[in-house]
Amino acid sequence: MEEAKRIRQLPPYLFARIEKVIEQAKAEGVDVISLGIGDPDRPTPDHIIDKLCEQAHNPANHRYPSSVGMISYREAVAHYYKNRFGVELDPKIEAVTLIGSKEGIAHISFCYLDPGDVALIPDPGYPVYGIGALLSGAESFVMPLKAENGFLPDLDAIPAEIARRAKLMFINYPNNPTGAVADDSFYHKVIAFAREYDIIVCHDAAYQDITFDGYCPPSFMEYPGAKEVGIEFGSCSKSYNMTGWRLGWAVGNPRVIEALGRIKSNIDSGCFQAVQYAGIAALTGPQECTCEMSEVYRERRDIIINGLNHIGWNLAKPKAAIYIWVPVPKGYTSISFAEYIFKKTGVVITPGNGYGEYGEGYFRIALTVEKERMIEAIDRIKDKVGHVEF
Ligand code: MLT
Repeated sequence: MEEAKRIRQLPPYLFARIEKVIEQAKAEGVDVISLGIGDPDRPTPDHIIDKLCEQAHNPANHRYPSSVGMISYREAVAHYYKNRFGVELDPKIEAVTLIGSKEGIAHISFCYLDPGDVALIPDPGYPVYGIGALLSGAESFVMPLKAENGFLPDLDAIPAEIARRAKLMFINYPNNPTGAVADDSFYHKVIAFAREYDIIVCHDAAYQDITFDGYCPPSFMEYPGAKEVGIEFGSCSKSYNMTGWRLGWAVGNPRVIEALGRIKSNIDSGCFQAVQYAGIAALTGPQECTCEMSEVYRERRDIIINGLNHIGWNLAKPKAAIYIWVPVPKGYTSISFAEYIFKKTGVVITPGNGYGEYGEGYFRIALTVEKERMIEAIDRIKDKVGHVEF
């Protein structure tokens, strides 16, 4: 039963490891507050659930769905892009339904990477970008996201011979785990770079609806040339509190969308149609729920930032996403600080090195517990950790 080499290299998923630690502590009676995984705690809005229930009763939806998704769901995605960003998409050829954006992010590497090819991966970054490359036998070239660059990759630092071998570049704004956002000049630079080296850009936009203080992130698809060089992954998970439903999409370059659809048709049999109908209700229905959720996260963000700044941090407030990215105090590594906090307070934070080597020296807080528990977490940290130094 010897595992294949590619599996032997595969670590257990970051949050699967953290989940084990949490379960054990809970079994020992610890009152755990998990600020670990970014899994929205509020329920999916009622109008979306109602649509699922209605459609689950329709026998037509009990049969195999199409692998690339219902055209009506892809039209709903196009409607969302038009409504939200003024972007025109042809739902027939420029959109594919995904069983959560994670699925498409992993599969896109199988479409384009052979052994010897390179994928450009942000670090720190969502672990799945590099895993897709690893499973494809390709190499990952790390693009460090550093505080001094606003957590944007420095494209000028990528050696030309690496860029020539690169076939995919992953980027993600609003960013997980740093909470950073990208501006027009960054996207223009990415498109020029992708054109010069013939690279497919994969923009992960999972957090584009969670925004604060009037900030409105652009879609990569808004920029001239974006559709020529790449695609954008989107998700119902964070926008509509639907992580458990597994529903997302990819939009953009028709050849890339077709390749992703082709690999999916050979591997999975698509997404339950009743879930896609619920997605249509989410994407074409009232959007106030995303504003309300952003306000909930804004309040939680402020509790964490104000609380940590009170005991010695000097954190700026992120404009979007559901995370706070925090440097560890003097004398700690990411792991030792996460362990220390957990042991002393029962509060789970994610060690930054779980997102790559450039995450070392940081930890991440997810804003996905209720305000009262956030306050409790901060009080415990203030009480047990006290004033910190850097
Ligand atoms: C995160 O916490 O980074 C994400 O929610 C994890 C995931 O999407 O798998």
